[in-house]
Amino acid sequence: MCYLKTVLFVLIIQSIGNISSEIPDEPPNIVVILADDLGWNDFGIHGSNQIPTPNIDALGYNGVILDKFYTQQTCTPSRAALLTGKYPMRLGLQGTPIDAGENRSLPLDTPTMAEQLKKLGYSTHLVGKWHLGAACKEHTPTKRGFDTHFGYWNGYVGYFSYEINVSQPIDTTKNFSGFDLHDALSPQWAYQGQYATELFTKKSLEVIDKHDVSKPMFLMLSHLAGHTGHDGTELGVPNKTRTDEKYSYIKDGGRRNLADVVNILDWSVGEVVKKLSDRGMLENSIVLFFSDNGAQTHGLFQNFASSWPFRGLKFTLFEGGVRGTGVMYSPLFKKQSYVNRQLIHITDLLPTFYRAAGGNVEDLGNIDGIDQWDAISKNEPTNRSTILISIDDLNGYSGILGYDGRYKLLNGSFKDGIYSDYFSESYRGPENPPYDISSVMKSNVNVAIQKLRENNPLAPATIKDLRKQVTLNSCRPANNTEVFTCNDMCLFDVYSDPCETTNIINDPSKERIVQNLKRKLNRYLSKIVPAANKKVDMLSDPKNFNNTWTPWLICDEKKQIYKYGWAEFYRNPFIALFKFISLYL
Ligand SMILES: *[C@@H]1O[C@H](CO)[C@@H](O)[C@H](O)[C@H]1NC(C)=O
Ligand SMILES: *[C@@H]1O[C@H](CO)[C@@H](O)[C@H](O)[C@H]1NC(C)=O
Ligand SMILES: *[C@@H]1O[C@H](CO)[C@@H](O)[C@H](O)[C@H]1NC(C)=O
Ligand SMILES: *[C@@H]1O[C@H](CO)[C@@H](O)[C@H](O)[C@H]1NC(C)=O
Ligand SMILES: *[C@@H]1O[C@H](CO)[C@@H](O)[C@H](O)[C@H]1NC(C)=O
Ligand SMILES: *[C@@H]1O[C@H](CO)[C@@H](O)[C@H](O)[C@H]1NC(C)=O
Ligand SMILES: *[C@@H]1O[C@H](CO)[C@@H](O)[C@H](O)[C@H]1NC(C)=O
Ligand SMILES: *[C@@H]1O[C@H](CO)[C@@H](O)[C@H](O)[C@H]1NC(C)=O
Repeated sequence: MCYLKTVLFVLIIQSIGNISSEIPDEPPNIVVILADDLGWNDFGIHGSNQIPTPNIDALGYNGVILDKFYTQQTCTPSRAALLTGKYPMRLGLQGTPIDAGENRSLPLDTPTMAEQLKKLGYSTHLVGKWHLGAACKEHTPTKRGFDTHFGYWNGYVGYFSYEINVSQPIDTTKNFSGFDLHDALSPQWAYQGQYATELFTKKSLEVIDKHDVSKPMFLMLSHLAGHTGHDGTELGVPNKTRTDEKYSYIKDGGRRNLADVVNILDWSVGEVVKKLSDRGMLENSIVLFFSDNGAQTHGLFQNFASSWPFRGLKFTLFEGGVRGTGVMYSPLFKKQSYVNRQLIHITDLLPTFYRAAGGNVEDLGNIDGIDQWDAISKNEPTNRSTILISIDDLNGYSGILGYDGRYKLLNGSFKDGIYSDYFSESYRGPENPPYDISSVMKSNVNVAIQKLRENNPLAPATIKDLRKQVTLNSCRPANNTEVFTCNDMCLFDVYSDPCETTNIINDPSKERIVQNLKRKLNRYLSKIVPAANKKVDMLSDPKNFNNTWTPWLICDEKKQIYKYGWAEFYRNPFIALFKFISLYL
């Protein structure tokens, strides 16, 4: 009897313990560091020795390496999905990213991650890129839930100039050209000439330094690196001579620049984690690093990044475009130093963080993301078996991944398949230095984390083992195989064929799978909010605003109708004043 009581008592205590240990006791700090346009093969963790990324690698080796982490195929859709937990096709943001001067934005009635976390008491900060609209002040980050923003509103800027040009809509030989570096709404010309990755790092460290630790912090550091800057071809490095010396083993000059861009980005991750540690915040933090979409090895905005061995680039729905590099660390995870092979989508991050922060995921309303806290922190089975990869009605291509991420159905290709080939190299040649495990061990990230895992230090053997687990072998077809596009439909088994070499859509044994995926895709298609891409708005011309990108329209917050532009005041203050008065009388 007594024994039974003891057992019962122990069971009760255990179950209470389990319940309370499901989520952190206190809302954790959430730090999201984003890279731009980098591929699977640009990080040491996936087996390439070419670009040293010891800090990013250490984050994964100590935490969780997300092996089946899917993003959207380009910037604006990925950032929309991250911040809203919704598929971009529900917001009209699925197509080509927002141009500078285009009067489109994240819908004002869709709350952002920053707005949601603020409700739970977080202070919220964005450093770097926004890319979700800036036609009206109401579109910009500090009006969308971020307490502070230091950075740029458009898709990219110069690494030193912070300028971006777009073709003028009527005479495309001319440009709308302007400066885009803002602190909230105020332009920051004084920083011109400073290197973007270093500047954004410095600003992030200031945010952490100033943070009142009695509150939880949400910091999103959204880097320019490794997107091309300035005129869309620049891969800015602080000292080109040093870059060429340090990476002399890399033959291609573009790739050499990218190596330094990525290596400095890696340094940034180290600085941020070290600062969290110095302030005693790391012990209650979740730190996520990922790239917003795949590499742009070739073509528009070519940055020499690599999605090897995968097929396809940014803009495509092949693995090279959407299977993201993602590593996540938290001392709060019950399971650490492992490869997570569960299906996780970028829309899942909002509910996952919200749950970890102690929120009730149901309060997030009708979203597409699901809570993956248990799937990540304990490697419990995920509830996700399907991902709508994208429906881009503007460019006419779509894709869905089903059956626990095994079968991918593609309907059409981006621009008839221009980026569907196997572009990038393996970069695994003997010219590269060997993988430097000691630099991983000595990295700022690893040193900071070891202080929190006293009894269970990360061993070099674990590094080797984990790296091996996520290093893919070449799975490409021979060079002479003609690359087919998916302008009709393709079905791939991405478990057995991660390089998407073989279209099995006509395999009779897959007929039921194809029908099922088509049905699901059609169901989403019936709920699409059409892509609302527009031409660059004539009123946006930075010439009207001291050559600086400035919100040029006035938004009605409730009806979300644009009224007329600030630019009109510059052109004809009398007419503008008359219109303004008539609008409000
Ligand atoms: C306009 O900007 C593009 C890059 O967006 C650049 O290639 C082109 O040279 C610019 N044209 C002029 C006239 O400055
Ligand atoms: C932007 O365009 C202006 C001329 O319109 C040109 O002087 C400037 O160099 C261009 N800058 C970039 C980044 O292309
Ligand atoms: C650039 O790097 C080279 C080679 O490392 C070095 O000699 C030079 O002093 C550096 N220049 C500046 C301005 O730091
Ligand atoms: C997963 O789905 C099951 C069944 O619908 C549900 O009971 C459970 O709460 C879900 N788990 C998470 C983490 O959403
Ligand atoms: C494929 O072609 C490239 C260059 O054309 C060559 O360097 C490479 O060795 C070839 N690979 C194979 C497997 O034949
Ligand atoms: C495939 O895409 C075309 C338009 O590009 C569309 O009409 C068709 O319904 C799509 N099929 C499915 C199964 O979604
Ligand atoms: C948005 O831009 C488009 C393209 O320039 C233009 O036709 C439209 O009138 C603009 N909308 C508003 C409300 O200014
Ligand atoms: C216009 O821009 C320059 C930098 O290009 C800046 O120094 C100046 O203060 C700005 N003028 C106004 C009125 O904002």
